[in-house]
Amino acid sequence: MIKKHDICRVASLEPLSKDTYALTLKVNGDMLKYFRPGQFAHIRLPHAGEHLLRRPISVNTIDREAETMRFAFLIQGEGTRRLSQCRPGDELDILAPLGQGFRVKESHQKIWLVGGGIGIAPLLSLRDTVPGREYTAFLGYKSREYAYELKEFEGFCKAVHVTSDDGSIGEKNFVTEALRRELAKEKPDVILSCGPLPMFRSLKRVWEEDGRDVETQVSMEQHMGCGTGGCYTCTCMVAGAMKRVCMDGPVFDIREVEL
Ligand code: FES
Repeated sequence: MIKKHDICRVASLEPLSKDTYALTLKVNGDMLKYFRPGQFAHIRLPHAGEHLLRRPISVNTIDREAETMRFAFLIQGEGTRRLSQCRPGDELDILAPLGQGFRVKESHQKIWLVGGGIGIAPLLSLRDTVPGREYTAFLGYKSREYAYELKEFEGFCKAVHVTSDDGSIGEKNFVTEALRRELAKEKPDVILSCGPLPMFRSLKRVWEEDGRDVETQVSMEQHMGCGTGGCYTCTCMVAGAMKRVCMDGPVFDIREVEL
């Protein structure tokens, strides 16, 4: 039986960029055994008080040897602010790994990663869990001060295309437009993507116009309640049916998910 609920100790918490932190937890080995990139944890906030709901945070990287799971998150409200105040040795109640994650097949040798903002974080877990593929990354940041983990992507990707809203890092452009330009030159075996809904909408336009033959998987960010399929807070329409992002997703085929 895979252990999915545990009290885990904070190993470290470090700032990555403006309002962005990396939280590393010491976890039990069971949680890492069948981990797939794109899966997430549902974390109960420390000293929750009125903030009783857990927060879904996707897994940034795992280390099976050290038995750690790392999460990168952006402060977006009181809950994530509290998380940013954790100290090594603190204990957090977590459910993990949850969701279905990306479906990477043997035929996916040339993989393009498309991430926006904090949605870039889960894409880094491909580096260690699916090695030996040819990766290209398209990373869209708000600005230079919000950029994080760029060096990590440069370390394992053949090429990294960086964009920002204000041009302070990389080119001033939408990340999906950088993708469009490269799709005109060559096609990957699969596109794996994570980011906010507006990015997915423009990704779908680019996919429809320039990449219809390319399998494209998107990892949805959604408000969640239970995180385990019971409350139906996190639904979205997929192939005409209501699906739960926490259980059936968060990763869906771009052809099927309503954006
Ligand atoms: Fe409760 Fe998904 S968060 S069903």
